[in-house]
Amino acid sequence: MKVFGTLRVPGDKSISHRALILGALAEGDSAVTGILQSADVQSTAGVLRALGVPIPELSSSFIVRGYGRSGLVQPTTDLDCGNSGTTTRLMAGVLAATPVRATLIGDASLSRRPMERVATPLRTMGATIELPPHSGLPMTIQGGHLHEINWNSAVASAQIKSAILLAALIAGVSARVTEPVRSRDHTERMLAARGGAIRVADNSVSLAANSWLLPADTAVPGDPSSAAFFAALAALADSGELRLERVCVNETRIGFLDQLRLMGARVTEKDRRLEGGEWIADLIVVPNRLSATLVSEAQVPAMVDELPLLACVAARAEGETVITGAGELRVKESDRIAAVVANLKAIGATAEELPDGMRIVGSDRPLAGKVRTYGDHRLAMAFGVLGAASGNAIEIDDRDCVTVSYPGFWADLAASHSA
Ligand code: S3P
Repeated sequence: MKVFGTLRVPGDKSISHRALILGALAEGDSAVTGILQSADVQSTAGVLRALGVPIPELSSSFIVRGYGRSGLVQPTTDLDCGNSGTTTRLMAGVLAATPVRATLIGDASLSRRPMERVATPLRTMGATIELPPHSGLPMTIQGGHLHEINWNSAVASAQIKSAILLAALIAGVSARVTEPVRSRDHTERMLAARGGAIRVADNSVSLAANSWLLPADTAVPGDPSSAAFFAALAALADSGELRLERVCVNETRIGFLDQLRLMGARVTEKDRRLEGGEWIADLIVVPNRLSATLVSEAQVPAMVDELPLLACVAARAEGETVITGAGELRVKESDRIAAVVANLKAIGATAEELPDGMRIVGSDRPLAGKVRTYGDHRLAMAFGVLGAASGNAIEIDDRDCVTVSYPGFWADLAASHSA
């Protein structure tokens, strides 16, 4: 397989959600360019519209008109978050501090995901939150006056951290969140860029009481989690070179690229620049022989969404790859430990589940068979990339689920390589 060409992957999903939410909460106009136009971001747009924010149809360039921190209105319907954990948990923080009663709902996968992790700190701040016995969705929130919080999170999660920061911002109280390992930091960067009094020290982030929120424009950079699929494709290729333009290379997001380099891939960064508070670069990836790697807890947050892809790459690398400290994968869009291992076995690879990770033994033999995605976009794309590697023949049961984060994925994949 040969890779070629230059690709600009769609906008970053995390930054896209936040551009809409922060634009809605600021008073005035915020221009958004390059937003990710995918199902998950549509969910955030839909929820904000139901709360009275005039979000226009998503396009390459538009304005969010915000009515300030007290500008949201009582919704007349349940708030449908679709498949999006980020929509649910960030909006839970917003709603906890807003004097409305609202119910967040979602699809079957999202409804199973753990919401207690966000309800507990928000209740500690004074919110009233009802969850079903399994602690998933629907989640009903009666927002109101909140007080300050100093929260030690048991898990590294940008969604929990962001929910608390957003609740504190709207309530005008201070918040401090400490994580075991630092998770992605887009919320704190974007709050700081809008006048928020944010302080970061080691694994803690603090927001001062009565912080400002000014409108600000966002030029959404390319999503490193989407670029990762193409970096992997190039790393697994037999020849060629792939250039990925304008990728966000925020240090809390590039764990996969670091691992790929450690495995032997040649990844070069060009033209690193700071745009709108985020580091951006072009990436050039050239294939090479890959060897196995080890991933442990401290490395997980910076590549949490890329671990299914790393497992697929490891199936073609020399030696045994072991991923541990990644128990969070069991509560993503699917149980990504069980699903990845079952699928690797189904196509003839050697893999084993660990309680908090997996073990994969790489080989050169052709991998062939059917893959079940369980509706999980990242599984479809990870096995799509593995299927493109020479000698492999992998059939994916639900290719359409990529619309959650990367609607044009299959077209971009086809345009980036040849047999
Ligand atoms: C996200 C945080 C991560 C990540 C998700 C997006 C965000 O989830 O997996 O795709 O935008 O805050 P957790 O906070 O559950 O780790």
